[in-house]
Amino acid sequence: MPQGIPDAPPLGESALRPGTFDGQTVLVTGGGTGLGKAIASEFARLGARIAIASRKEEHLEAGKAAMEELGAEVFATPCDIRDPESIGTAFDEIEGALGRPGVLVNNAAANFPVPAEDMSPNAWRTVVDITLNGTFFCAREFGRRHLAAGTHASIINVGASYAWTGGPGFAHSAAAKAGVKNMVETLAVEWGPYGIQVNGLVPGLMPHEDMTADIKGNLARTHDKDGCQPALRVGRPRELGWAATFLASPYGRFISGHTLVVDGANWQRRTLTNPTVVSVRDQMGKGPFGAE
Ligand code: HXC
Ligand code: NAP
Repeated sequence: MPQGIPDAPPLGESALRPGTFDGQTVLVTGGGTGLGKAIASEFARLGARIAIASRKEEHLEAGKAAMEELGAEVFATPCDIRDPESIGTAFDEIEGALGRPGVLVNNAAANFPVPAEDMSPNAWRTVVDITLNGTFFCAREFGRRHLAAGTHASIINVGASYAWTGGPGFAHSAAAKAGVKNMVETLAVEWGPYGIQVNGLVPGLMPHEDMTADIKGNLARTHDKDGCQPALRVGRPRELGWAATFLASPYGRFISGHTLVVDGANWQRRTLTNPTVVSVRDQMGKGPFGAE
């Protein structure tokens, strides 16, 4: 019987030396929940001061508490990444509290499953605005500050593998993530001469307790999530955190313009006889279009 890829080492372990990020500030957007919190935690374990920016007070509080538990200095500030002014204010506050972040993890994003024909213009606009525009606005603010100061820095944009494949049921998010991946390649070349690395980081299916009800509901339709993956298991959020810390570490310095996929090869899974096609409407238990 195939056993799949062995499970991840336990939480708390790291391939990098303790203190790798001592004295550095790392900003994680959406760092109070899910994968953002997992990424922030791995930087915190390695000595970084952590800044978290997102909209909701309860998420900021949760992120702050998690970092404090790890003994990290932390500053959490409200910010809507759709609003460049709000981003500027958040960066000023973070710089004042912890010093200028040398690493930006553009993790915040928006998503919900919806058949394309049911998607309102505002639903499309909202997801693209947060995921694509918000990611650029944060990168721009961060890049301009480092260009002005002449300092080395690292940006990591969190993506999704449907940037390459398309994402049935997620047309807005898939299109936005394709833009995010493309942005990595452009910015890495534009800003490389000034010492700024820009990379992408793509999680596979990494379930966590903070997933939105919409996404949880969508996933609940698949009972054996491990068995659906070539690795015969889903990913652990800490596995994304380890990849992020490596990319931003001194040992990842010559990696730029790359998007690293951490998904146990799930996105390449393909056979000539794929499972029978089920429409997105049917997958979501929706009736025929126009019948509602
Ligand atoms: C259809 C929906 C919808 C849904 C919202 N809308 N939810 N349409 N199905 N489930 C529509 C609304 O009706 C509205 O359009 C428009 O979207 C904006 O909705 P608001 O609620 O006003 O927006 P806002 O308050 O700004 O909230 C943004 C949000 C929300 C995206 C809708 O879900 C959010 O805050 N999400 C942040 C967290 C998140 O999405 N995490 C998932 C990341 S996971 P109308 O026309 O009515 O005005 C990920 C990859 C997962 O990205 C991969 C899967 C395994
Ligand atoms: P999540 O827990 O829902 O996190 C999304 C975060 O983004 C939240 O902390 C949210 O905080 C923040 N956010 C949303 N809109 C914002 C806005 N306008 N301004 C500022 N912050 C905003 O989702 P997740 O699963 O951890 O996802 C993290 C990243 O991984 C995303 O980029 C996602 O696309 C990607 N991803 C996840 C998976 C997975 O299996 N989990 C798979 C593929 C890709 P507030 O609500 O407080 O604003």
